[in-house]
Amino acid sequence: MPRLDKIVVEGGCRLEGNVQIGGSKNAVLPIMAASLLAPGSYRIDNVPVLRDVQTMGRLLEGMGVRTEFSGHRLTIDSSSCSHFEAPYNLVKTMRASIYVLGPLLARFGYAKVSLPGGCAWGPRPVNLHIEGMRKLGASIEIQEGYIIARKDRFKGAQISFDVSSVGATGNVLLASVLAEGLTVIQPAAREPEITALARFLNKMGAKIKGIGTDRLEIQGVQSLSPTDETVIPDRIEAGTFLAACAVAGGDVTLLGVEPKHLTAVLGRLADAGVEVHFSADSIRIQSSGILKPVDVSTSVYPGFPTDMQAQWMALMGVATGSCTITDTIYLDRFTHVPELKRLGADITLDFNRARIKGVPALSGAPVMSTDLRASASLILAGLVAKGRTDVSRVYHIDRGYEGIEKKLQILGARIWREKEDLVV
Ligand code: UD1
Repeated sequence: MPRLDKIVVEGGCRLEGNVQIGGSKNAVLPIMAASLLAPGSYRIDNVPVLRDVQTMGRLLEGMGVRTEFSGHRLTIDSSSCSHFEAPYNLVKTMRASIYVLGPLLARFGYAKVSLPGGCAWGPRPVNLHIEGMRKLGASIEIQEGYIIARKDRFKGAQISFDVSSVGATGNVLLASVLAEGLTVIQPAAREPEITALARFLNKMGAKIKGIGTDRLEIQGVQSLSPTDETVIPDRIEAGTFLAACAVAGGDVTLLGVEPKHLTAVLGRLADAGVEVHFSADSIRIQSSGILKPVDVSTSVYPGFPTDMQAQWMALMGVATGSCTITDTIYLDRFTHVPELKRLGADITLDFNRARIKGVPALSGAPVMSTDLRASASLILAGLVAKGRTDVSRVYHIDRGYEGIEKKLQILGARIWREKEDLVV
């Protein structure tokens, strides 16, 4: 019988100590795809050891690119790339695979990339990526579930998206750096991961202006060169550990973080009554575990991140009153709600707004993780629930958190991994 990992948490421990935050998953993935733009070798440091990063590695390997992981260092040799396809079996496990579309088209004039399909919380379209490539001059057909993209010439274009999209901005950046003339993306995503990608591309020789703003101007160049990079800290991993200490109570210092990437989260934590102090690369949080209710509404950076919405709901589940959490980015990203309710949370969902009435205590139960951030929220809830919480299907969490249970153990949580039989 197939066996899967589950995470078991026994609630009720305060968290104390230091925790090292890893490199950003969402920053390293497009940087890895960028290595397709120029043949040669790249050394990337502070790479988190995560399933999604390994998936991107396998994707590149399938194209003939050599990748070598050694601890948190990744070496890529893209001298020989001979196969321009991202197959369904990999793309279906990681939507960010679509980042190879732009660089493959820009450098080789052809890409065959599987459509990602839906995800656990609903459809997540890639129309803006496709539209962006078309605007640059690519011809695109959808055949048998694949995007078949071709181009003779890429010419700079004005690209305006209906919504601000991290992935589409990244993909158009990755394509337009080698297009002829000027490309303007507006509105461009301003998320730190996109800023990091643009800086990396400029280090390779690209000419991108407006980095960090919602208007990016890309003057195409004829060729780029390989370079080395250190990945920025993962703001969502950091936010999750802040939330863990806030809800469990304790005194924790996060090391290797970029506090300015977390302004919205730190602000809401302060509103909830938690004490937060930070230096250039560390954040100390002190919490009594008693949290005031605080409404949040997710929005694009520098707003409150949708990737912290589920974790915030775990906190508000035990706050001293009622509040609302609205997701304006992914209107249906609420698969954690029924699971949190199994732990005793009082939540009602009205389209994209959850009303949470804080309860004095949650109680442990078996729950199932449905996606990456939902898994994190269930672990946070387990930290304060009375008794034992078994979080099944934690393969989701391994996509985006490196050894979350080990890091929480170091802080004093009673948490461990077990095998469980998969009953189908
Ligand atoms: C990235 C992050 C993800 C985060 C999200 C929003 C990575 C690998 N993933 O995802 O963790 O939750 O940003 O911060 O970096 N949209 C379209 N058409 C498209 C593309 C997007 O309509 O072609 C919509 C989406 O449905 C969503 C909104 O645009 O409503 C923003 O999505 P987007 O920023 O593109 O998210 P991702 O890049 O997929």
